[in-house]
Amino acid sequence: MEHNNACKLASLHLFCLLFLSALVSCQLDYKFYDNSCPNLTKLVRYGIGLAIQNDTRMAASLLRLHFHDCFVNGCDGSILLDDTSTMKGEKNALANRNSVRGYEVIDAIKATVEKACPATVSCADIVTLAARDAVFLAGGPFWGVPLGRRDGLTASESEANNMPSPFEPLENITAKFTAKGLDLKDVVVLSGAHTIGFAQCFTFKQRLFDFGGSGKPDPALDASLLQNLQTVCPNQDDSDTKLAPLDFVTTNRFDNSYFKNLVNNSGLLQSDQALMTDNKAASMVVNYSKYPYYFYKDFSASMVKMANIGLLTGQRGEIRKNCRMVN
Ligand code: HEM
Repeated sequence: MEHNNACKLASLHLFCLLFLSALVSCQLDYKFYDNSCPNLTKLVRYGIGLAIQNDTRMAASLLRLHFHDCFVNGCDGSILLDDTSTMKGEKNALANRNSVRGYEVIDAIKATVEKACPATVSCADIVTLAARDAVFLAGGPFWGVPLGRRDGLTASESEANNMPSPFEPLENITAKFTAKGLDLKDVVVLSGAHTIGFAQCFTFKQRLFDFGGSGKPDPALDASLLQNLQTVCPNQDDSDTKLAPLDFVTTNRFDNSYFKNLVNNSGLLQSDQALMTDNKAASMVVNYSKYPYYFYKDFSASMVKMANIGLLTGQRGEIRKNCRMVN
């Protein structure tokens, strides 16, 4: 009897697995370019390797580029489009202007990919692969990326102006993630991306001197980190664009120290430290701070989820020849 039940359970699992993978593959496919561009993953990996060798921070910048692409019009390469006389793109939106980096790296990879396989690979897929490789080359996890995204024909400056902001409360940020089909767990684990890269002083300076009009710094900021940050970002306007590491312990290494920092009141952005103010989010933070394995596993799953937002597949959209403009 027990054996029978176990069999039933096993076949139910198998059925669900087959059903789910069929559901995903209606849209994207791990082998999408296997015949049409067999060297794609090598070309991207090489290009990202070179870029990071030249500029360590580029790993972080490419990861963020993918996030900002997916949250506006879906993962369709819309962030890469330059403004035209008839369309204001996303590059000059508040969250992106003088902040998002990596466009030239994508251009260079796209150029080599076009030589090897003309008019075949979307810019959106290149951005997705770039983010995956950037994380891996920065010491983080590796995951398979389903491919076959197509490039958008338009961009949305207004949606780009609505990106999650470091100044808004966790509930608002979570609502913006939920609107994209993600949940609180995705907010927490994807915020772990802030284990690499930098932020400009103006994105957290309000915590350093006169927090919420109190005349004092944010009490949720560790005293020695506070001192350090006050030196990097003195209380004057010309420090606004100075840079501080999002993870001051292992700045260039993709590890779980972001979560350890949060437990120690050493998150840089107010929106980072705010994860400790919600019971559910805080318990996930503590868990990831103790078990890097679970952070890597969940981060990989959430990245695949994020990379599925608002897809253009089949005949929709196009394969751009130049990532900066529609064909
Ligand atoms: C949860 C809401 C989020 C907020 C409010 C937020 C906010 C920010 C801000 C303000 C910066 C600094 C930008 C600058 O100073 O120019 C930044 C940097 C960064 N963000 Fe986020 N972020 C969020 C989620 C994410 C997600 C989901 C990812 C990727 C999965 C990500 C990856 C990064 C990376 C890697 C950097 C450093 C970029 C670099 O050094 O070039 N962030 N973020």
